[in-house]
Amino acid sequence: MEPEPNIPNVDDAFSGDPQPMYRLMRESMPAITVIDGAMGAYGLVPHRRHVDEVFRHPELFASTEAIDLQNIRPLIPLNVDPPHHKKYRKILDPLFAPRAMARLEQPIAELANRLMDAFEGHDEIDFAASFSVPLPSQVFLSLLGLPLDELPAFLAMKDGIIRPNKVVGCPRDHPDAVAHQKATAMSIYDYFGPLIDERADDPRDDLITTFLRAEIEGEKLTREEILDISFLFLIAGLDTVTASLDCMFAFLAQNPDHRRQIVDNPGVIPDAVEELLRWETPVAAVVRVATQDTELGGCPIDAGQMVTLMIGSANTDDVEFGDGDAVRFDRDPNRHLAFGGGIHRCLGSHLARQELRVALREWHRRYPDYSLKPGVDLAYTDGVRSIEHFPMLLGPATPAA
Ligand code: HEM
Repeated sequence: MEPEPNIPNVDDAFSGDPQPMYRLMRESMPAITVIDGAMGAYGLVPHRRHVDEVFRHPELFASTEAIDLQNIRPLIPLNVDPPHHKKYRKILDPLFAPRAMARLEQPIAELANRLMDAFEGHDEIDFAASFSVPLPSQVFLSLLGLPLDELPAFLAMKDGIIRPNKVVGCPRDHPDAVAHQKATAMSIYDYFGPLIDERADDPRDDLITTFLRAEIEGEKLTREEILDISFLFLIAGLDTVTASLDCMFAFLAQNPDHRRQIVDNPGVIPDAVEELLRWETPVAAVVRVATQDTELGGCPIDAGQMVTLMIGSANTDDVEFGDGDAVRFDRDPNRHLAFGGGIHRCLGSHLARQELRVALREWHRRYPDYSLKPGVDLAYTDGVRSIEHFPMLLGPATPAA
């Protein structure tokens, strides 16, 4: 495959208004198009049917070496392929099943309300700093049985891994950024290792203790395996929910008719969450590596080729959705891929849904009116589409229930 020179820059597609770019990609690109990027050549897959096909074939498109975050061992279960992957999901799936997550409704509502209490009386906030960043991290801290004052340490670990370039203030491939990411990775092992040992000696009612007790076919998780799971959770479970809150509230702030549907009828929230996950697709793409020479929709793919599945594009593909560019809370069916697909489909989808539903419900009960600060151009990050600075004007608050 020759690299194509006239294809839109994928970094632009990840910005604030990606859907028109997705449409352009689907209309102009075949099953896979190889782009020469700063980090090497990667193939873009924009069509829903091809994304589905890659998800269905983990033996041809592996997740094993798709991302390097300076972790010293594969992240579990994301970088584990069949047959071992199944063992981990068998252990982890019940811990994150809908019934287990339903128990978190009240604690999440309390955390969300405590954050909102802090901006009572203010008519302008930064939504990211005040709400979308702290909420998922605080939920995670409570799952781990850790005090909320661990929040700054948690955020430093998350940011040092996900955006070391922003923390250090240089390009992502600069040696200083790489060194910061490496040091952060080590600090994550140093943070969770002793925590696991502590819980082994003094079990609690928390996630790490549950991992220590979990057993499948007579086998328990080792200390290293629990470390590798915890590392992934820190990356997979915090920024994704933050980005989803950012994308959803930015949409609702700019689309008062949709917001009104939520305020007038909170019963619509579960469907609104699914539709906004589809439309916004906060995790815009996922990556695989071809395990052998193969093909996709008639396009040849070389062994070792990096394959970027544009799930944001697949989620607006008319072939699947008919009117993919319309945001409709009554969409049914809504087979979106915002949580990925196939064997690596998001483990935390029920936790994420619980957080998003409760956040939308509690927020709109207290703050039915809000808008973007005029004159502000929201800047979305690439890949996972969060908004780092999100100035929001608040209308009058409804008194707390
Ligand atoms: C709205 C929020 C979230 C979104 C949009 C999201 C999205 C995704 C996506 C697209 C994947 C597939 C990655 C791939 O195929 O390469 C994934 C996997 C994963 N997610 Fe999430 N995620 C969210 C929240 C969470 C949370 C809260 C957790 C915490 C438990 C979590 C844990 C995981 C794990 C462990 C995997 C890997 C599963 C495996 O490899 O078997 N995610 N997520």
